Amino acid sequence: MKENVPLKDFTTFHIGGPARYFFIAESEEEISKAIKAAKNLNLPYFILGGGSNVLVSDGGFSGFAIKIQDSRFKIQDFKIEAGSPANASVALRAGAGISLQVLVQEAVKAGLSGLEQATGIPGTLGGAIYGNAGGRYWAMGEVVKSIRILWPDGKIEEKSRDWMGFGYRESKLKKFPMSERPIILSAVLKLKAGNPDEIKKIIAEKTAGREQKLPKEPSAGCIFKNLENASVGQLVDSLGLKGKCVGGACISNLHGNFIINKGNATAKDVKELIELIKKTVKKEKGIELEEEIQYLGF
Ligand code: EPU
Repeated sequence: MKENVPLKDFTTFHIGGPARYFFIAESEEEISKAIKAAKNLNLPYFILGGGSNVLVSDGGFSGFAIKIQDSRFKIQDFKIEAGSPANASVALRAGAGISLQVLVQEAVKAGLSGLEQATGIPGTLGGAIYGNAGGRYWAMGEVVKSIRILWPDGKIEEKSRDWMGFGYRESKLKKFPMSERPIILSAVLKLKAGNPDEIKKIIAEKTAGREQKLPKEPSAGCIFKNLENASVGQLVDSLGLKGKCVGGACISNLHGNFIINKGNATAKDVKELIELIKKTVKKEKGIELEEEIQYLGF
């Protein structure tokens, strides 16, 4: 456990004040120990994955930030469930702290299809499942078979995909108050044996598409959830807000749903820009936007 660790070093926005206490948990045992310690010390805690969908306040977090990171990548319990090897359905278990992009690459190497649409999405597997990350037509929940969770009281359970109640950028886990929220330890994903060349082709197309359409500067991905039938990026664009800045934070010129950090943005700058977008969209279109990103320490 470290003290006063700047969270800007652990968010893709590169923004955020210090966590009072900070720990990188690299295994199930370490996650369990960290939660136990937080409970014993009566400290509020926050689980951080890749830090790609979070805005941390400039004042930081006065509790215990636990970053789940599995640098020792492993696919566990790889098994063919049904079908002939050519079109087999394959279940594999992977740790919550694995980088989603490492997982995408490992699936390609193993000739497994199902994760192509996750190409380029930053963060960890646990975070992607928690927030049901995805693109326009695909979300992580589609390939989840079950998850292994740790309850704050120490109990470990395996829960089915149905229990997770996945919705657009939503899961059951998001609905628990932080102190009662179970933590994802690992997940069983359901993939399919695929044609490695076809998988690689889809991945290359997605990569090229993202490079062209999405900004390269530090950001937290899309700030707002899309509307039922409309892209918030397009809406912000149509209102002429792209390129607008508050301090070091600007609405991306490439995509209206991205706020980028020009290098010295504060969380306050970003928050002000978010409020400005919300106010303008409400005034001009009568629409209430809802954040996709999570706030910490506000
Ligand atoms: N568009 C504009 N101006 C803009 C942005 C978009 O005219 O500033 C137009 C595009 O040209 C396109 C349409 O709007 O015709 C849709 O844009 P895009 O394909 O970029 O999709 P999106 O609905 O804006 C969603 C996800 C993204 C994901 C993309 C691609 C949400 C909130 N956004 O964006 O997810 O990358 O599809 O799959 O669900 C994220 O959630 O963090 C995220 C980046």
